[in-house]
Amino acid sequence: MLQAALKDAIDKTRKNIARFNGKFPHVSENDVYQLNDNTDWTNGFWSGMLWLSYELTKEADFREAAVRTVGSFRDRLASHTVLDHHDIGFLYSLSAKAQWIIEGDESAKSLALGAADVLMKRWRPKSGLIQAWGQEGHEKNGGRIIIDCLMNLPLLFWAAKHTGDDRYAEIAVQQAEKSRRFLVRGDDSSYHTFYFDQETGEPLRGGTEQGYADGSTWTRGQAWGIYGFALLYHFTGDTCYQETSLRMAKHFLERLPEDGVVYWDFSAPITPETKRDSSASAITICGIHELLKRLPSGHPDRAVLEEGVRRQLDGLIGKYATIGKPDAEGLLERGSYSVRGNASPDDYMIWGDYYYMEALARLTEGHKGYWYE
Ligand code: GLY
Repeated sequence: MLQAALKDAIDKTRKNIARFNGKFPHVSENDVYQLNDNTDWTNGFWSGMLWLSYELTKEADFREAAVRTVGSFRDRLASHTVLDHHDIGFLYSLSAKAQWIIEGDESAKSLALGAADVLMKRWRPKSGLIQAWGQEGHEKNGGRIIIDCLMNLPLLFWAAKHTGDDRYAEIAVQQAEKSRRFLVRGDDSSYHTFYFDQETGEPLRGGTEQGYADGSTWTRGQAWGIYGFALLYHFTGDTCYQETSLRMAKHFLERLPEDGVVYWDFSAPITPETKRDSSASAITICGIHELLKRLPSGHPDRAVLEEGVRRQLDGLIGKYATIGKPDAEGLLERGSYSVRGNASPDDYMIWGDYYYMEALARLTEGHKGYWYE
């Protein structure tokens, strides 16, 4: 079943190369991907799908298309196009860093290192955080962290390793620690975002941007936390990150609906109209898979985690994947970008497709994505 699902995903990606014609997919409208010229936070996911497809098939067309995206990311960095945000890790880990991991390409390596330097410019020493969104000093966003940022930190750890400059890793650890202390709540749920005083770093309050309410748990945010903290344990060896990922994963799995694929927020009232977020489940499968790798074989939570991976994958493959729809552009239906903002609340999300493919590659081939080498 997993091999067939992976083949279906690769076949659709192959078709999409011609359909997208050098542009980048973001989210869909009426089942058709909205395309852009590498100007959004999501563009690395398409590169990542092309690199995964290339590694799994060795077909030259996938490599050619993937390398073309890296060229586009080179132009983007040179022109600094839409890079004043923290999502540089998503963009360059799955494009340039992936090429370096796969092929040892030195120009891809320097591109990814250049991207890490851009991400470092988001560091705000007075408040001790990586600012997610907006210009420095922005009234609302100037002292704000968001949980998604955990997945941008691998680029900094990688840069520290390959330059010998510890500052990248020191900043990543400070951001991780702030996220662990303030974004994760005592009951293992999470805030999407947290505000700090820009001048003093004093913690102010938790909040949300894409979740149901300030104190609710946006399921994709929880998913970013599960995966992000699992990776932080890999990078730092600090067991507090492993514990945090584990606690967040159990909280998530305890709230899976019957079909194994989460709604968009754990506090959203459930009605027949409540939107799902299949992308949150896809991210969580990858995160738990990463977490399981380093959990001792006799650990009492292994069984519940393994069962959680199985249930979610069964749900995605059985009910949400476009298997059996050969002309579909997307791999996963029923992702939601921002239900709260009424932005693509029930569509294909390119990151959902990427993490679904990564999940299938993990479970069939033992792949680990491109977050570390
Ligand atoms: N990182 C943005 C999102 O998850 O929607």
